[in-house]
Amino acid sequence: MSKVFKRDQHCGLLTAMESGKEVMLCGWVAKRRDHGGLIFVDLRDRSGIVQIVVDSETAGEAFKVAEDVRNEYVLTVTGKVRLRTPETVNPNLATGAVEVLATDLTVLNTSKTPPFYIQDGVDVDENVRLRYRYLDLRRPEMQKNIILRHKVTKLMRDYLDNKDFLEIETPMLTKSTPEGARDYLVPSRVNPGKFYALPQSPQIFKQLLMVSGFERYFQIVRCFRDEDLRADRQPEFTQLDIEMSFVDTEDVLEMMEGLIGYIFQGALGNELSLPFPRLTWDEAMENYGSDKPDLRFDMKLIDMSEAVRGSEFKVFNTALETGGQVKALNAKGFSGIARRELDNLAEFVAIYGAKGLAWIIVNEDGSIKSPIAKFFTEEQLEQIKSAGKAEPGDLLLFVADKKPVVAQALGALRLHLARKLNLIDEEKLAFAWVVDFPMFEYDDEEKRYVAMHHPFTSPREEDMKLLASEPGKVYAKAYDMVLNGTEIGGGSIRIHKREVQKEVFAAIGLTDEQAREKFGFLMDAFEYGAPPHGGLAFGLDRLIMIMANRPSIRDVIAFPKTQSASCLMSQAPNEVEDKQLKELHIRSAVVRKDN
Ligand code: AMO
Ligand code: AMP
Repeated sequence: MSKVFKRDQHCGLLTAMESGKEVMLCGWVAKRRDHGGLIFVDLRDRSGIVQIVVDSETAGEAFKVAEDVRNEYVLTVTGKVRLRTPETVNPNLATGAVEVLATDLTVLNTSKTPPFYIQDGVDVDENVRLRYRYLDLRRPEMQKNIILRHKVTKLMRDYLDNKDFLEIETPMLTKSTPEGARDYLVPSRVNPGKFYALPQSPQIFKQLLMVSGFERYFQIVRCFRDEDLRADRQPEFTQLDIEMSFVDTEDVLEMMEGLIGYIFQGALGNELSLPFPRLTWDEAMENYGSDKPDLRFDMKLIDMSEAVRGSEFKVFNTALETGGQVKALNAKGFSGIARRELDNLAEFVAIYGAKGLAWIIVNEDGSIKSPIAKFFTEEQLEQIKSAGKAEPGDLLLFVADKKPVVAQALGALRLHLARKLNLIDEEKLAFAWVVDFPMFEYDDEEKRYVAMHHPFTSPREEDMKLLASEPGKVYAKAYDMVLNGTEIGGGSIRIHKREVQKEVFAAIGLTDEQAREKFGFLMDAFEYGAPPHGGLAFGLDRLIMIMANRPSIRDVIAFPKTQSASCLMSQAPNEVEDKQLKELHIRSAVVRKDN
């Protein structure tokens, strides 16, 4: 208890048990209602809201003070807790059974009228909320998110400490790390012309800590990536970063499932069913067209290639003849869809590169409606219906193209339809591991293979021999944890042998010198007894976003950035003085307006 503010209770915690007690409260005015001789003040602190009654008959001086009080003034209130009369009980308020009859009331500070109501569910533009973030964060639902975040990180630390992990910090001013996004650079004043990179992740350092023999490491750490932003991406975000020695995939997955189970139990009281289901990357792409499938609903992608082979429909034939596929989704019970709506769906898949969206409706009487029906024999149509498990009332939607386009287009359409058809159970938590990622993917722009995860990921033993000859066929010991269609974590077993690391660098077109220049210190370290090791990093913001049931990670970050990577409150990033640039040996190519 503060020596100055003798607060002995919190607003939101008062119950009928306290009735009759004298209390001293501190907080903000959430609402004030003047009923002549009676003034009601809803007083809010972090714990919640309680109603204060200021009665002109009993409050004396305090009544005069209360008359001038406005929303968001900061008060201390002394008074007696009493039960409300039955007809004034407010069942919507945790403290709704009681109120505090004020005997003393002090204004600690006044407040301007805030730009929006400090309450849940306010309908304000997010830019206004971000501009006045300190007020936005005063709203109970935002406080709840931030408190949840605290609880979760505390549980993470408890669990990992219990399992003998050590929390170790790694540098923020460092060298470019290998996560594949653009770096944020920091110019060095004392090393003219040289730059630090902010870490995209502590990947290399955590591996070095394994070489050092710490065996089990974790860190709740800020990471920086200069990439295009979305609802689940921020330029700076937080990872729970983990690494372990003397482990293989199974050990890591089990430890991580245990951790997630512990957190959901501790923070939300949810008993998760462990172990989580596992899909290989191939299965995920095949069935869901995504490496982070939302498994809260079914609607798998159906391979129609065999059923449609040999038809008269050129589009399908061309795709099949050129090594592509024909796949479909069955939107069950959606046969009533309007033509316009079908056109909209075709436009939707076009975003993902599909050249069209063919459709077949099975009418309620079993007959077929489709602009492409004429290209198929009766028998072929029956085969299509059977392959698509299409029953009367269903709509089949087809994309024919190269494999990745089909996956992308139908994967996105699957999610789109699920929302439209209300197939998603919002209460469900659908966890899964996606394992056995391809080691490399071909980058058409750069005309070379790049690491799908990062180049320190170990290929599967059985695929090592393919590294030089057929890198496209190598699978990696990499795994992602997926929750409700969001990738909440990803990791791998690492390469710990220098020769293998060299081969992988070669496969992605890094020469020895380039590899040395970029990651020489790691290569050197590998010559001094690197243990087998592996780990994973969770996206903390994404995890909390889902736990708090929010649509954006901005809602669970105290001071987030906008889509254009700026802070509307502090106005960062901003221009700096020429003097500062000069000291950093930098000149800007952008002509400033004031020059
Ligand atoms: P990865 O790049 O998969 O792996 O990142 C780990 C997790 O971090 C989250 N994440 C993000 N969250 C918010 N905004 C972003 N811009 C953002 N980028 C990533 C995701 C992701 O699953 N070093 C490896 C981990 C390892 O191999 O151990 C790494 O960083 O939830
Ligand atoms: P068209 O003969 O080009 O008019 O196409 C007939 C139907 O096939 C239309 O509904 C198109 O949207 C659809 N279509 C065209 N290209 C594709 C494709 N690559 N995959 C699936 N459907 C397609």
